[in-house]
Amino acid sequence: MPATIVLGTQWGDEGKGRVVDHLAKDADFAVRFQGGNNAGHTIVVEGERFALSMVPSGVIQPGCVPVIASGVVVDPKVLISEIDMLTERGVDPSELKLSANAHVIMPYHRKLDAVMERHLGVNNIGTTRKGIGPAYTDKYARQGIRIQDLYDPKIFEDKLELVLTEKNKILTRVYNQLPMEIGPILEEYLAYAERLAPYTTDTSLLLFQGLAEGKMVLFEGAQATLLDIDHGTYPFVTSSNPTAGGALTGSGLGPKVIDKVIGVAKAYLSRVGTGPFPTELHDAAGETMVEVGGEFGTVTGRRRRCGWLDLVALRYAVRVNSLTEVFLTKLDVLSEFETIKVANAYTSLGETYDEFPRQQRVLYNCAPVYDEVPGWQTDISAITDFNDLPKEARRYIEYIEHRIGVPIKWVSVGAERSQLVVR
Ligand code: GDP
Ligand code: IMO
Ligand code: MG
Repeated sequence: MPATIVLGTQWGDEGKGRVVDHLAKDADFAVRFQGGNNAGHTIVVEGERFALSMVPSGVIQPGCVPVIASGVVVDPKVLISEIDMLTERGVDPSELKLSANAHVIMPYHRKLDAVMERHLGVNNIGTTRKGIGPAYTDKYARQGIRIQDLYDPKIFEDKLELVLTEKNKILTRVYNQLPMEIGPILEEYLAYAERLAPYTTDTSLLLFQGLAEGKMVLFEGAQATLLDIDHGTYPFVTSSNPTAGGALTGSGLGPKVIDKVIGVAKAYLSRVGTGPFPTELHDAAGETMVEVGGEFGTVTGRRRRCGWLDLVALRYAVRVNSLTEVFLTKLDVLSEFETIKVANAYTSLGETYDEFPRQQRVLYNCAPVYDEVPGWQTDISAITDFNDLPKEARRYIEYIEHRIGVPIKWVSVGAERSQLVVR
């Protein structure tokens, strides 16, 4: 069955948006299955830059239907503004499909995200403060409001009244905040419901029928493997499953429909927010990655922490996602370096780790064991044929392939759609 999962293998911002945009030219559907507007996916087409946080990146390719499936948490205001932004810029999002089962991010989720982070002080997660964690918390506590609830004003009001009574107690008594009033929230969200009505549907059924008709489905992961709630660097993670399994639970399809799992890996590494990062650099090399790679958050504008590629982590991503191939991005950024380091193992308290350590304590205290390979120090950003890459760049790619045991089928050398080597 022609369904392909595209997901992040690191801590996010690997370039999933541009990967999905590339693959969506052959896809009938591009499906977001988890996360919310904590995602920031960038696509650059002939100098024009699109930053999307809710609408799947496949929307830019004509003929690809963007789908927001049940596992996503939706901030309706953000979704509507993205629909309007796309329309204004000449991209037609009218075919968008939104799952009636998706959960809604409410104003108290955003508020709680902010006050809980403040409460954590130095132990904060560094969330995007979009209300993602609190929205998923309510979903699992069975207190969430779903898109479908917005279409029954009585049910919506009853549910909101119940949940808001509790949230207001938490906001006022625990966090010393002002309570929120139900009236304005009801009014605001009922207006959103009206705007979103044309898009709302049963997306699981839609995709099932599409696959039965031989259509191609592309799943677009947000966040990444190491930010996964179950398999990431907990608690410094997001509140959903960006790993391959999440594509199935989040969209309501079974595993047999998947034939490819493409992992997106940046040629070096970045992380926003707090948490362990063994290959992080605090020197001029890290600075170069930030500057040359433009490593500032799409959503929050925050400076991303940067470091060398970590093959221990990448092999872990291969394992937990059953990756079938890898799309390597931002190789051009490494053109600056005389030599390039790659972590192949960690050491911690006298022990060597080839596998990603189970314990957070180990990960915090480990030192990377590096291999050093020669750089190429020449501009590769116009190269589209693998054989035209400098031999050092080819060796770097082949070295990674050899170490992870999965083929690298694409290498991007610039943010533009055309700056791509397909092998
Ligand atoms: P995502 O969240 O995984 O979709 O990634 P982001 O869009 O947040 O971050 C990736 C950034 O790198 C964006 O600004 C892209 O335009 C840019 N980008 C993607 N591929 C390349 C590449 O091959 N080279 C360079 N220099 N930039 C790239
Ligand atoms: P894309 O899809 C990078 C990080 C936040 C924080 C942690 C939890 O663009 O790759 P959250 O707001 O989700 O509760 O924050 O996860 N984070 C991301 N980092 N890229 C993202 O998305 C991210 N989404 C969340 O910085 O450390
Ligand atoms: Mg991003």
